[in-house]
Amino acid sequence: MTLDYYQSGAWDEITLRENRLAINRYQLRPRMLVDVSQRDLTTTILGQSLAVPILIAPMAFHCLAHPEGEIATAKAAANNGVVMVLSTMSTKSLETVATQRQHTSQWFQLYIHRDRALTQALVKRAEASGYSALCLTVDAPVLGKRERDRRNQFTLPKTMELANLVSMADLEIPQTTDESGLFAYFAQQIDPSVTWQDVEWLQSITTLPVVVKGILRGDDSLKAYEHGAKGIIVSNHGGRQLDGAVATFEALPEIVATVGDKMEVLVDGGIRRGTDILKALALGAKAVLVGRPILWGLAAEGTKGVSHVLELLKNELDLAIALSGCASIQDIEQSLVTKKV
Ligand code: FNR
Ligand code: LAC
Repeated sequence: MTLDYYQSGAWDEITLRENRLAINRYQLRPRMLVDVSQRDLTTTILGQSLAVPILIAPMAFHCLAHPEGEIATAKAAANNGVVMVLSTMSTKSLETVATQRQHTSQWFQLYIHRDRALTQALVKRAEASGYSALCLTVDAPVLGKRERDRRNQFTLPKTMELANLVSMADLEIPQTTDESGLFAYFAQQIDPSVTWQDVEWLQSITTLPVVVKGILRGDDSLKAYEHGAKGIIVSNHGGRQLDGAVATFEALPEIVATVGDKMEVLVDGGIRRGTDILKALALGAKAVLVGRPILWGLAAEGTKGVSHVLELLKNELDLAIALSGCASIQDIEQSLVTKKV
């Protein structure tokens, strides 16, 4: 059940596969005879420092992978100087996860529930616990159909809970006989009427910068900017929402051309190698988010496993920039990539 939930995409999983294929359609154009003896992978996002341009994507239910769940993931993020984005649907409370922050930043991902008082209370808790941005996910007014979850009647084992929500409203993932419990939860609890006005509403109730996650079009990226977002994440939710939606690396150039000089643009979906990160940055992304590989590391060896995944990506990026003639993240520019015809 867990493996299916983690690896699934929606319907035929076309978008899930397309994310990888689109990355591979770009080729690198390395520069030679550049001094790369000293290399620097550090960067900033919303003014917050990162040891490497990687964030951990918000993902629900880390306790399904490892008993320490999001605590283990947060420790690895802090040890490696990357930002972890904690999901609303975490199995450890946002307050407990915040204790693992050390000197790094953490962001909180928000799902707007039908109960706006509950949503507002979540935002206040995230502020009080020191989260430094809100990541508003906008591609899930309803949940996509992951057919394996439906077949498994996906739900959380009795030993796990929606740690941020159970204490406030007794919310839990229902047991269902003919549907994924998570699909049913979204239908009951998540507000499908959210619009751009609510992005302004969210800005009005928080002091934290809002980053909108799930944008796939240039015109929407401009709307995000006009409605006060401080950043956007080009994402199709790892192919888990609208199957057939455009691959993120297809959407990225148009979005960078539209808002790249106004706000920070991030991207996720299928990032599996250091060279994928290099391509994303060359296309104008400020950083990438990594999803499933983090869960594989967590399942294999908890904090150590997640750290190992982050180190692999970091070392690969270091090697990739060196071989491309870049000594730092700032040296990565658009002419380093070309699209295969
Ligand atoms: C997700 N994703 C996600 N996104 C979000 O905003 N809130 C969430 O709670 C979740 N939950 C979630 C669970 C699981 C198991 C997966 C795989 C994904 C989407 C995630 O943030 C991200 O957009 C993709 O996972 C990125 O694609 P890759 O790296 O997994 O290919
Ligand atoms: C998912 C939700 C929780 O992708 O965002 O499973």
